[in-house]
Amino acid sequence: MEAASLAAEEKTGSLRHVAIIMDGNGRWAECHGLPRLRGHIVGVDSARSTIRYLNNGYQLKYLTLYGFSTENWNRSQDEVGGIFRVFEEVVGGMSQELHKEGVRLRHLGRLEELPQSLQQEMNKAIKLTENNTGMTLGFAFSYGGRNEILDAVRRILAEGIPPQNIDEELFSRFLYTTGMPDVDLLIRTGGELRISNFLIWQSAYSEYYFTDVLWPDFDEKEIDKALLAYRQRQRRFGGL
Ligand code: IPE
Ligand code: IPE
Ligand code: MG
Repeated sequence: MEAASLAAEEKTGSLRHVAIIMDGNGRWAECHGLPRLRGHIVGVDSARSTIRYLNNGYQLKYLTLYGFSTENWNRSQDEVGGIFRVFEEVVGGMSQELHKEGVRLRHLGRLEELPQSLQQEMNKAIKLTENNTGMTLGFAFSYGGRNEILDAVRRILAEGIPPQNIDEELFSRFLYTTGMPDVDLLIRTGGELRISNFLIWQSAYSEYYFTDVLWPDFDEKEIDKALLAYRQRQRRFGGL
């Protein structure tokens, strides 16, 4: 199917929430004889064009991007600091652009663990875009799926909710993704076949799409391929 008609049809399709593990920045840089940080910088361009294409071309309602995991804190201080600097600039620089496009930004993860200046940029961008009604963009940064579940359990206990009232719907409301539907399509670039602690509750029934393409090389054509693959799946949710 042509990409344009695919995009047009998808507007009315079942695809509501796409989540992406943006992996392969470091290897992309190494392949090009560049420092790893350069890969993260170029990866930002892929993120920007992905957001724009899924919002404008596909009119997708929910997109979650995995930018930094709780496990990524184990990298060298140099790399972690570099990623934070890049991200801070990006949030500052992109918030007006996102706002103009009607995107509503959310942070998923433990914002309080991040440097103060980054928290401030993030909070400013969230505030600026909070009333937008276009695509909701979840930015998973210092995010871990297990942490998310533990944070939810702690809050449920702190609120004194009786055990018999805890069902899947209630539990979902205590997750960072509260108000967002479950993930329909989970994409991972960079060739690894794992979910690396990403949205483990919300992707229980997702369709998975893995590609060897490294994140900085992931473009509109690759998005079309992933969404076409999704359309060809038959989702049964345990039924027939
Ligand atoms: C993904 O790219 C971005 C982050 C995890 C911050 P990587 O940095 O993991 O790139 P590879 O996997 O080493 O190529
Ligand atoms: C997952 O990538 C996290 C992000 C893309 C932000 P990693 O590169 O950290 O995952 P592993 O270490 O290969 O599982
Ligand atoms: Mg990686």
